[in-house]
Amino acid sequence: MTDALEIRNLRKVYAGGFEALKGIDLTVRRGDFFALLGPNGAGKSTTLGIVSALVNKTSGQVRVCGIDQDRDPEGVKRMLGVVPQEFNFNDFEKVHDILIQQAGYYGMEKGLARRNIEKYLRQLELWDKRNDQVRMLSGGMKRRLMIVRGLIHEPELLILDEPTAGVDIEIRRSMWAFLERINREGVTIILTTHYLEEAESLCRNIAIINRGEIITNTTVKELLLQMDRSSFVADIKGDFGRVPADNPYLMQLREDGSIQFQVHRGDNLNQVFELFARAGIEVVSLRPRTNRLEELFVDIVQADQPQPDGAVIRQPAVAGGNV
Ligand SMILES: Nc1ncnc2c1ncn2[C@@H]1O[C@H](COP(=O)(O)OP(=O)(O)OP(=O)(O)O)[C@@H](O)[C@H]1O
Ligand SMILES: [Mg+2]
Repeated sequence: MTDALEIRNLRKVYAGGFEALKGIDLTVRRGDFFALLGPNGAGKSTTLGIVSALVNKTSGQVRVCGIDQDRDPEGVKRMLGVVPQEFNFNDFEKVHDILIQQAGYYGMEKGLARRNIEKYLRQLELWDKRNDQVRMLSGGMKRRLMIVRGLIHEPELLILDEPTAGVDIEIRRSMWAFLERINREGVTIILTTHYLEEAESLCRNIAIINRGEIITNTTVKELLLQMDRSSFVADIKGDFGRVPADNPYLMQLREDGSIQFQVHRGDNLNQVFELFARAGIEVVSLRPRTNRLEELFVDIVQADQPQPDGAVIRQPAVAGGNV
């Protein structure tokens, strides 16, 4: 079976000469749930914009489900559902009308269009809002409406550029459950996000892009295995000020009074407990810090920054690749 997305040597130089993509390669398998991560300005939206034909590429190849974008742009359009980063609705249009128009744009048969509109509006808890103008929706509702609009024509590949930006945690979790469900039903999903917890819990494969280059492309599992340290959070009784500041565990007092620290692979946690005990501190509870991908992400992107002499330090390549 062909891959859902194949990008080869993709370059983008914006008017004015800025090189936003420096020849990237990326493959996303059918059925995958794929995360494209990177700091602000890395080139994520540029990449997805080119795939969605919203941005013109400078050079390189893009194939969606085996269809070459240059040869058959209409064919690519049918395969793709696009949820852009910025809202792009007419605020005075009604929810249902927007979706009917979208279905018309794809030449869908009316009965199927109506069934899909109802199905997805119900699944994303927007059915009650179907007769409202977009301006009456909250930000989180608009985000969900963007997803419904991207799915109406039943695309093979759904690309979502920060689908949960500005969405509260409860709605975010219900959006995750929805995306997992459509992925299980066969839709390939690529998303960008700044919530690394999102990538960790949803995605199987991941690429990190920085300054227009892919610096890591592997499975989420491999990436997390690459970590040689773990962070913990401890609730304590006693005076944290009595712990020697020069301890090797990078201890920090958090806002809620708990203590965060790191141990390296092979370190013994008992040594940390002994350090606390010597300072007269009792550890009341201990839990691993959950957002491990976040720490790794910061490390990888920092390691990719240019050094003063112009050399770039790279993380070792990670075995595995797309699975
Ligand atoms: N229309 C444009 N004209 C000129 N430069 C642009 C244009 N759009 C984006 N850029 C530049 O290209 C680079 C990549 O931008 P892009 O929007 O792809 O980043 P991103 O990874 O999506 O960032 P964010 O996380 O902030 O959304 C940035 O330096 C940006 O300033
Ligand atoms: Mg972006």
